[in-house]
Amino acid sequence: MELRSLGRSGLQVPVLSFGAGTFGGAGELFGAWGHVDVAQARSMVDQCLDAGVTLFDTADVYSDGASEEVLGAALRGRRDRVLVSTKAGLPTGRDGELGSSRRHLVAAVESALRRLDTDHVDLFQLHAYDARTSPEEVVDTLDSLVTSGKIRYLGVSNYAGWQLARALGVADARGRERFVAHQVYYSLVGRDYEWDLMPLGLAEGVGALVWSPLAWGRLTGRIRRGAPLPERSRLHATAAAGPPVDTDLLLDVVDVLVDVADEVGRTVPQVALNWLTTRPTVASVIVGARDADQLADNLGAVGWSLDAEHVRRLDAVSHRPAPYPHFPYERQAGFAAVSPPLFPTAG
Ligand SMILES: NC(=O)c1ccc[n+]([C@@H]2O[C@H](COP(=O)([O-])OP(=O)(O)OC[C@H]3O[C@@H](n4cnc5c(N)ncnc54)[C@H](OP(=O)(O)O)[C@@H]3O)[C@@H](O)[C@H]2O)c1
Repeated sequence: MELRSLGRSGLQVPVLSFGAGTFGGAGELFGAWGHVDVAQARSMVDQCLDAGVTLFDTADVYSDGASEEVLGAALRGRRDRVLVSTKAGLPTGRDGELGSSRRHLVAAVESALRRLDTDHVDLFQLHAYDARTSPEEVVDTLDSLVTSGKIRYLGVSNYAGWQLARALGVADARGRERFVAHQVYYSLVGRDYEWDLMPLGLAEGVGALVWSPLAWGRLTGRIRRGAPLPERSRLHATAAAGPPVDTDLLLDVVDVLVDVADEVGRTVPQVALNWLTTRPTVASVIVGARDADQLADNLGAVGWSLDAEHVRRLDAVSHRPAPYPHFPYERQAGFAAVSPPLFPTAG
């Protein structure tokens, strides 16, 4: 498995990681994702380790802590061989606390360590931007958790560009630990990440961990033009909670994915995941799976390369017009001369 630096940090991460969102299965949202128990989770961890996938992502909010508990139990006896990533900041329903206050973050990290049955997490991410807590309080708190050895590296998730840029500036000005990872939604039907966050990641040395790389389970080849939604899909119950996806775009992208998959002798999820690994800043693509078969399929997404023509076709079909203030850079030579777009041939 290819290893990549996580942003400008010294941490090497596998280009595919595993997301434990299907572990636990508690509550309406995560119950629809899957019900992987400890025994199944142990065997899925075995599958990952055999393939070289050594980074496991979870969050306190997944199944209200049960995902962390199942992951911790599944990793027992091999904790020193893996990297554990978790997140906090969204409401969990356990204590009514949320956000990035010192009080909550210290308590959230202690609780996560207990549920994960470990003494440190390798990567801790703020799950969402907290507009009520000052960036000074946030970076000071996280810095102290790194210094005390409970966290190795810091990241954020779902931040706007200005929020992350400000947080990095405040950390630098105070001599605190920097954020080296941004856990972002990015897929062939959701390329918003490329406008602001990817250039910010390049400029500031912040690596991307990609969440929902199959667009909340849509880019699997099971959703096709004229085909009904498969019976077993989280989309029946939870589509509205996930990324908004334009149906025409999805069907157009799936048509090209099916053609490319046929031409290269791979599956649709493998091609969709592999395309993400070709993009700048992407350190690791977090694959999700509700069972061993889906996981085995997704683990076959790496170890081979799409050729330039296949990438060009996927870029072209998935391209959407640039929003302001990005469109002049794409359309006008004067703007492009001072600031060339990252993907000038797309469209
Ligand atoms: N930071 C955040 O805000 C955030 C948000 C979401 C996720 N995440 C992280 O990202 C991880 C992955 O997210 P995700 O589960 O939404 O990813 P995804 O790749 O978009 O969707 C995974 C789902 O697609 C279906 N699927 C996956 N592989 C398949 C295959 N080979 N064939 C057919 N169907 C397949 C399964 O759902 P069905 O069986 O239901 O179709 C599976 O649960 C999560 O576990 C979590 O760690 C983070």
